[in-house]
Amino acid sequence: MSMLTGALARQAAEIVRQAGKLLTEPDAVQTIIPKSRTDFVTNVDLFVQERIRGRLNRLAPDVQFLGEEGEKAAIDPGRPFWILDPVDGTTNLIHRFGHSAVSLALAEHGQVCFGVVYQPYSGECFTAFRGKGAFLNGRPIRVSGAARLEESLLSAGTVPGRRDLADRAFRQMRSLYDRCQDIRRAGCASLDLCWVACGRLEGYVELALQPWDYAAGLLLVEEAGGEVTAPDGGPLSLTEGGAVLASNRLLHPALIETLKQ
Ligand code: IPD
Ligand code: CA
Ligand code: CA
Repeated sequence: MSMLTGALARQAAEIVRQAGKLLTEPDAVQTIIPKSRTDFVTNVDLFVQERIRGRLNRLAPDVQFLGEEGEKAAIDPGRPFWILDPVDGTTNLIHRFGHSAVSLALAEHGQVCFGVVYQPYSGECFTAFRGKGAFLNGRPIRVSGAARLEESLLSAGTVPGRRDLADRAFRQMRSLYDRCQDIRRAGCASLDLCWVACGRLEGYVELALQPWDYAAGLLLVEEAGGEVTAPDGGPLSLTEGGAVLASNRLLHPALIETLKQ
């Protein structure tokens, strides 16, 4: 039995959209706290998480909550839980780059059953429901039909918080670059996944992500006909992070092969 109803999904998406608008306020960022030299949290990340957490709690008090910011309560994966990235693309937010998103997923029975990723600058709202499809502002989306890497546009993440992985990430990027049309790096993992889902990109790879970066986007890609795995084709966890490879499915074997080199 699933706890997900159309009403719950609609209300959760509305909560995300309302909170997401805060990212676009011109002077939204007032405080920048470094978590490390290359990883930051702002007052916006903290405020958006608290606002969404409070509203979700009123909406569905029995659902556990896993959010990027602050203390993380232990999650019992046998019971439903929300997975929230209040601002995916914090460095973009700090630089007023206009490319960040709020990403929320609902996990139950070990898989994501609902995901929403909202890009407040463009007003694009991506939603997915397990077994029922993926949508952009309510319209169904599909992955691209490109069947050759030579026809592909890819995104490769630079793992900014894990400089120890930089050499590997840039070597892999070079291998991919030699076979695809071009590579993009826009700085928001959840939107990279959504862009694979709607066919703007054929694939996306990043060597270290957390469940809040990919939980919602993973369902978007799968429901749009694509595939999301670890770069060796293995499964992803919803409670531990890992490396992520997403594709339009047709290119998955070629991407796995290229990333091995
Ligand atoms: C980051 C972004 C970025 C990705 C990093 C993530 P954050 O999330 O998604 O694109 O390269 O690995 O950590 O820190 O802005 O929420
Ligand atoms: Ca993130
Ligand atoms: Ca974040």
